[in-house]
Parts: sequence; structure tokens; C-alpha cells
Amino acid sequence: MTDDKGFRGRLEGKVAIVTGAGRGIGKAIARKLAVEGTAVVIAEVDAAPGTQAADELSADGFRALFVQTDITREASVQNAVEKTVAAFGKLDILVNNAGKDFNFDATTMTEADWNTAMDVDLKGVWLCCKHAIPRILEQGGGSIVNIASVHARATSPNYFPYGAAKAAVVGLTRSLALDFSPKGIRVNAICPGWVMSDAISTWIKSQPDPQATEDHIVSLQPVRRIGLPEEIANFVAFVASDEASYITGAELVIDGGLTAQYPQ
Ligand SMILES: NC(=O)c1ccc[n+]([C@@H]2O[C@H](COP(=O)([O-])OP(=O)(O)OC[C@H]3O[C@@H](n4cnc5c(N)ncnc54)[C@H](O)[C@@H]3O)[C@@H](O)[C@H]2O)c1
Repeated sequence: MTDDKGFRGRLEGKVAIVTGAGRGIGKAIARKLAVEGTAVVIAEVDAAPGTQAADELSADGFRALFVQTDITREASVQNAVEKTVAAFGKLDILVNNAGKDFNFDATTMTEADWNTAMDVDLKGVWLCCKHAIPRILEQGGGSIVNIASVHARATSPNYFPYGAAKAAVVGLTRSLALDFSPKGIRVNAICPGWVMSDAISTWIKSQPDPQATEDHIVSLQPVRRIGLPEEIANFVAFVASDEASYITGAELVIDGGLTAQYPQ
């Protein structure tokens, strides 16, 4: 609930799982939810940053737990949900954030490439929903936030099948919103544009002229800068909270105006 001190404590007493929260956008989401009063499980495949993210939150007095989780494996997802309920007693919020860029040529990629991409960018979202939803229902409802991308709506050349997977995440979001909103779970998709996460800064540094690459990206943005993970996290906290009680099944774009413009 919101109080007179502003946003702080808006999610007091809630319990959340954030996938891929060892770095980038997921790490910022985990911190923001914790600041708002949530106990947070860092469900991350990579042990070192996952442990560090949870340790940083604990050191700052927040309730946090790292559970090594590979969202592409059902037993691992099931374990994360069980450990969450064992540690914090319930589950209110699931943020499906873990995901990766893939840049295959559709005519030369293998079936294994397809499975790798779809497992992390689509199947993992479903697996987390599958195991979280019964737990969220047990305590009367809650909120699921799926991090899709502006690539769900308009993509770039040589970005296959990332855009296809993210469009499917938006479709999955609509289906689950219809099936579970009547039972008290709101399900929404957030579509970020360019965000300076670990993945994006690493990619920029890998380009032949990193400064020129960054300048070009900035020039594409109506706000003339790249978004910050914290700006996505602020929005996720709102969408996960009761302040967003009439928002479900929505595709929510947060991209500094990138997709508002007509290319010319
Ligand atoms: N950064 C952007 O510009 C941008 C834009 C639109 C959408 N997104 C989406 O936001 C999400 C986060 O992206 P980011 O840029 O912060 O990426 P990132 O690479 O900085 O962080 C992603 C985290 O997810 C973890 N992860 C990967 N596979 C996993 C798995 N199988 N199980 C559990 N964890 C796993 C990684 O180890 C990493 O810590 C992704 O879904 C991405 O597609 C990012």
C-alpha cells in the first residue's frame, strides 16, 4: 500500500521471485522491490553474480536469498519456487526477467540453436509461471510481470528469433491474464527499448568503435540517452503493486519514445 512517505513500502510484506537478477535490469528490479518492502529471491543461473546480488541486499538490511536457477529446466524452476516458500512462507510476485539476445540466420541456424533461444526467451517464462501460479493463488492472488522487449513489436535485421520469442511472451501474457485475472493474478508484459544493462554495455564495448556505436544509439532516442535499469525497475514495482490494480493483459512500452517515431 502507498503511504505518505511516497513510494517506499508500497510492497511491504510481499514475496517476489526475480529471474536473471544477478545482473542488469533484473538486479535493479530486485533492489527496487526490496526497497519497496518485498522479500526477494534472486533466481539466477550464474552463481557468482547471483550470490553477490543477494549479499548486497542482505548487507543493506533487506530480505534476500539467492537460489541458483536455470529457467530452461523445470526441476530447477520448481526448486526455486519451493525454496522461496520455504524461506519466506508464500509467493506474491513473479518477475520473468531472464532472457538473452539471439542473432541467427533463419536459413542456416540449427534445430539446437532454435531450442536454445526459445528455451531461455520463451519456455523459461512459461515454466516459471507454471510453478509460481499455484503458489500465488494459494495466498489469494498477486502479480506476474514478464520482461519482453520492443522487439516484440518491431525488430531489426539479423535478430532472429529474439523478436519472435518476445512477441510470443506478449501472447503468453495475454493468455495467462485471461485465465488467471479472474482468480486474482494480474499478468502484464513490459517492453523495454535500449537499456544500459551489463549485456548492452558489454555489446557496445565489443563494437569496432564503441563510442560511435553508443552515439548512434543515443541519436535514435527521442530522449537522447539510453535508459537505465533503474527506470525499468521503477515501472516494474508500480505494475507489481496494488496501485496497478486495473492493469492486466497489457503490453507496456518503456523506451524513451523510440517506437513512437516514423523512421525517415
Ligand atoms: N538491455 C536492454 O536493452 C533490453 C531491452 C529490451 C528487453 N530486454 C530484456 O530484459 C531482460 C534482462 O536483460 P539485460 O539486458 O538486463 O541482460 P543481462 O545479460 O545484463 O542480464 C540477464 C541475466 O539473466 C541471467 N540468465 C540468463 N539465462 C538464464 C537462465 N537460463 N536462467 C536464469 N537466469 C539466466 C544471466 O546470467 C544474467 O545475469 C532480458 O529478458 C532481455 O531480453 C533488455
